[in-house]
Amino acid sequence: MDFIQRIKDNARSYHKTIVLPEGTEERTLKAADAITQQGLANVILIGNPEEIHHLASEYYLENIGKVTIIDPENNPKKEEYIDLMVKLRGTKGVTREVAAEQLKNPLYLGAIMVKAGDADGEVAGAGNTTGDVLRPALQYVKTAPGVSVISGAFIMRIPDTMFGMNGMMVFADCAVNPNPSAQDLAEIAVVTGRTTRTLVEMEPKIAMLSFSTKGSASNPMVDKVVEATQLAKAMDPTLMIDGELQADSATVPGIAAKKAPGSPIGGRANVLVFPSLDVGNIAYKLVQRMAHAQAVGPVLQGMASPVNDLSRGCSVEDIVDLVAITACQAAAKDKQ
Ligand code: ACO
Repeated sequence: MDFIQRIKDNARSYHKTIVLPEGTEERTLKAADAITQQGLANVILIGNPEEIHHLASEYYLENIGKVTIIDPENNPKKEEYIDLMVKLRGTKGVTREVAAEQLKNPLYLGAIMVKAGDADGEVAGAGNTTGDVLRPALQYVKTAPGVSVISGAFIMRIPDTMFGMNGMMVFADCAVNPNPSAQDLAEIAVVTGRTTRTLVEMEPKIAMLSFSTKGSASNPMVDKVVEATQLAKAMDPTLMIDGELQADSATVPGIAAKKAPGSPIGGRANVLVFPSLDVGNIAYKLVQRMAHAQAVGPVLQGMASPVNDLSRGCSVEDIVDLVAITACQAAAKDKQ
């Protein structure tokens, strides 16, 4: 079955609540209508209720009456959220006044609703930059226990089915950390392995990519990937992880046999961990465009509760899909 179809079927059975802070944004509103109509999640929209209802009737949306709307200017839980914010970040300068001001920003309100347990996850970014979406989540939702860096994975569906599992691969980090340390890279590998198991339902074969295969080049950038590979293996011995590998040694069995004999991956990697954001972001876009791959994501991983960021060029369908993914991430968190 198609990956997204399976994710939607699963999401439907979880009944999770997802907050969409950009409640007056056209694609978000249309997505909220479709998500409600398809029963993928309970939706909370943040925005002025009158404006949301006015827009819903302008766009002929029939399901907005069934979603919960929270007005940031008249939020019934304002005092409770301010208490929580000051408790969490009082030492970082968040006074009651600062918290009250932040709560007027729907992106902060959305993050606090997730932190307070009033929503299981958040999806935003149709009208805001990655940084503006991630910052409130990084400050208040924070990372999951044992994780210190969040990262962004893309689930790639490559038409040439010789790659990954029938063309299915996971690429990370393609969205967040410009210059990860060896420790960061190791964490990214382990968290991506877990995303691959829980979301893609595929047993990960993780390649730590470099411009060197098994010592063919020597450089501090190579040393970082070698160290990250050792750290990642120690962090989760249940995962199959190998490195440092060039992209062809990771994905082409014939090349792996020559350049990396004995590699447990044997040229059949289905998870690629890139040494920097430059490489990861450029690589996923090239594969998407030149190999006509479908790229689903970025799926943010490593947050204590799921928060996902949309591209500002997203379609209504992209938002619907990401909400379904977020609901599945929330369900996976419950099982941990
Ligand atoms: N993982 C976990 N926590 C983090 C991370 C991270 N990767 N980065 C920052 N934090 C934490 C900090 O520790 C800090 O916590 P504290 O306030 O409790 O001490 C908090 O988040 C804020 O940190 P800042 O350094 O002030 O965060 P900044 O404003 O620099 O923003 C951000 C962080 C948004 C992730 C930044 O690194 C960024 O913009 N990355 C690139 C995103 C991007 O442009 N990606 C490409 C486009 S996406 C695409 O093409 C799919």
